[in-house]
Amino acid sequence: MKGIKIETAKESDSEGLTRLFRKLYEGDEDKKFYSSKASPSNVRLGSKVFVARENKRLVGFCWAIWYEHIKNKGVGIIEELYVDEGYRRKGIGKRLVEAALKFMSKKVIVVFVTTDNQLKDAQKFYESIGFKLSHEPWYVIKPKGKKSK
Ligand SMILES: CC(C)(COP(=O)(O)OP(=O)(O)OC[C@H]1O[C@@H](n2cnc3c(N)ncnc32)[C@H](O)[C@@H]1OP(=O)(O)O)[C@@H](O)C(=O)NCCC(=O)NCCS
Repeated sequence: MKGIKIETAKESDSEGLTRLFRKLYEGDEDKKFYSSKASPSNVRLGSKVFVARENKRLVGFCWAIWYEHIKNKGVGIIEELYVDEGYRRKGIGKRLVEAALKFMSKKVIVVFVTTDNQLKDAQKFYESIGFKLSHEPWYVIKPKGKKSK
């Protein structure tokens, strides 16, 4: 259609975006998410970083991401995971990912992780904590107690 441009949303589009979101979610006026303003900075990825700390020193981290402004629970991502050399094979990676999964299980239905095919150790790690290979090199897990739609 001529005259229609596809652009990145600006903060000044908040009013129009909120109007369209509310049309999308008609019937959900009583839900909490419905009243939130759909400003472009609000329609974004939620993100939380979990860290493993020994005294004051950080020895590992896991970065979890999900979509904030959607009605139904969506997809979570383990975007980054790292445990310092010298601290590996002590269960720290597992504890970090478990903390991220526990947190995200309230927000999402499935959690994805991507790994490089070269990272065989990472693949063994994810498989050992219950991730299943979906489409190479994607891994997916359902947080406990959640059923697919
Ligand atoms: C992958 C990584 C996060 C694992 O962290 P970790 O703290 O060593 O993992 P855990 O100790 O919790 O391991 C849990 C289980 O995963 C499996 N596992 C972990 N590392 C493994 C390895 N190198 N080889 C084979 N299996 C492995 C084991 O079954 C292990 O249980 P076990 O030690 O009782 O046998 C860590 O090796 C790392 O930071 N690697 C470099 C960065 C990286 O690859 N990040 C992931 C990118 S997607």
